[in-house]
Amino acid sequence: MGQTLTEKILDDHLVEGELETGEEIGIEIDQVLTQDTTGTMVWLQFEAMGLDEVQTEIAAQYCDHQTYQFDFKNTDDHRFLRSAAGTYGAHFSRPGNGICHNVHRENFAAPGKTLLGSDSHTPTPGGLGELAIGAGGIDVTVAMGGAPYYIEMPEIVNVRLEGELPEWATAKDVILEMLRRLSVKGGVGKILEYTGPGVETLTAPERMTITNMGTELGATTSIFPTDEQTEDYLERVGRGEEYVELQPDDDADYDDEIVVDLSDLEPLIATPSMPDNVVPVSEVAGESVEQVIVGSCTNGGYEDILPVAKMLEGRETAMETETIVAPGSKQASEMLAREGWVAEMMAAGVNFSEATCGACIGIGHVPASDSVSLRTFNRNFEGRSGIEDDNVYLCSPEVAAAAALKGEIVDPRDLADELEDLEDPGVELPDEYDGSKTDLITPDEAVDDELIKGPNIGDVPLKDQLGDDVAGEALLKMEDNITTDHIIPATQDILMYRSNVPKLSEFTLSRVDDTFAERALEADGGFLVAGENYGQGSSREHAALCPMYLGIEGVLAQSFARIHRANLFNFGIVPLTIDEDTYANIDQGDEIEIVDDVYDAVTSGQEEFTVRVNGDEEYTATLDASERERDILAAGGKLAWTKAQAEGSG
Ligand code: F3S
Repeated sequence: MGQTLTEKILDDHLVEGELETGEEIGIEIDQVLTQDTTGTMVWLQFEAMGLDEVQTEIAAQYCDHQTYQFDFKNTDDHRFLRSAAGTYGAHFSRPGNGICHNVHRENFAAPGKTLLGSDSHTPTPGGLGELAIGAGGIDVTVAMGGAPYYIEMPEIVNVRLEGELPEWATAKDVILEMLRRLSVKGGVGKILEYTGPGVETLTAPERMTITNMGTELGATTSIFPTDEQTEDYLERVGRGEEYVELQPDDDADYDDEIVVDLSDLEPLIATPSMPDNVVPVSEVAGESVEQVIVGSCTNGGYEDILPVAKMLEGRETAMETETIVAPGSKQASEMLAREGWVAEMMAAGVNFSEATCGACIGIGHVPASDSVSLRTFNRNFEGRSGIEDDNVYLCSPEVAAAAALKGEIVDPRDLADELEDLEDPGVELPDEYDGSKTDLITPDEAVDDELIKGPNIGDVPLKDQLGDDVAGEALLKMEDNITTDHIIPATQDILMYRSNVPKLSEFTLSRVDDTFAERALEADGGFLVAGENYGQGSSREHAALCPMYLGIEGVLAQSFARIHRANLFNFGIVPLTIDEDTYANIDQGDEIEIVDDVYDAVTSGQEEFTVRVNGDEEYTATLDASERERDILAAGGKLAWTKAQAEGSG
């Protein structure tokens, strides 16, 4: 039996285990990336582990999520990150240089390589044939130190693309269609491998829009084969020599198959407040739009903004609609500026912004109360824009530009009928991605050779070894699809404490219950209870680190999102899976006790645990974990475990 493309890359990097679905495998990591919100902990953990030099081929530290320097805290973080990159041998991308995924794909992403990143949209360069996986910061720390990355071998799904996109349908509509069909849980435990005749009709940047947003399906990663389009893109970014041809074998065996006929697609839109609430744009046409934002790691490339510029050229945006363009990289801004497109957009009424994540996590450009904001981003979780009860829609740049012109949601095909000379701008790549590299500091050009820590940079908290008695109150009961944004919001007022865990912890789950942090500290131990897909969203390890700091010992949930589940192990919090009935029978405030001797049970491989509620009713909860994960949990988390391993071997 032949191999899938994923299996070929995994095989090349395999250091432990076998490529059997569900088995734990260890793989060698070639490249790592981290960004400013997760990076400070990555480097503090690197320091705490006593590591002294980056071991991967490429390590890149980006400053993209919070680039506005409101006070000294972000600036201190950025300086610390620059000093860590310099000290340990990583590339450093200065604040304002762009979003990690955009800058990474322009400069480093390469077919056949493995990439681990402490950001959930790390799978973006899957569109170039790189096997790219998002993980918690401490997993990235360990990989950067040269150790393998361990993961349960996912199912591999063949997403077969047929046909060709019709006018006004875009790559964004391909992934919105996938979300419409599969939901935000549909990719959990899976790698989506795109194949079929439709693949060659998509440029590499279009493929990367699709792989980027595979994250919203919950997929481990998404990947495309490589071909002339890949080679063409690599040549345009000046790295043609890094091209290698990668295709699955003709007789590759997949766990499942999904067929998407590109020619059936039409402009789609995700309505508030989940990326899988997808409908045709025509279904919500007529809704007034007060804000349009084009940008983000999904649609912030030169090729995404050029169509908007073409649609707006010589026209004016609607008076009632604020239109913002925030490119994904400074290189894209510079190229658009040199070609005159920035001036054209400004003349049309666009507010041109810095290359940053910013608005995607509610930092700047927060929508007005009770208004509709249309964005080309990948997430519209409630409150993520920086205002509770927001109305954020997700769409392609073309649909966004149409709304900017009309002042309301409109199917661009209808707008084209209305404005006679409005044509589908299509996809156009520049001859050469020739922006300056001034803001990318290579390890050879490092500015610092020792860590610089300002007063907002704290220590990494540690947890004690797991005990035998684990009991406490069900401090909070939550519903399905709780996101890491619910657990630790990423808005400016909160995010500025990312390097100061005691302070940041005060905001834990404040969007669900603002008394939670205080109650948890007072209780000195306890549980969280949740429905399905707990911890979906970003890779933010603070969403496990802060609950750990507050004394949370376990989470009882119907299911966990992949990265968050790994983060719970990494910070010594016991993730137990419960069924619907058990979930229904536990109330907030109930006393929970795990009846078994927990340390012994975890280390001996026990899968079923007895959970006693209020001293009498008993339910079964499951710990589905590898031996390595159990050891990490028992040690009190990955930092303690890694240190113990190093001491043992040293
Ligand atoms: Fe940044 Fe939003 Fe992407 S926070 S990395 S632009 S999902």
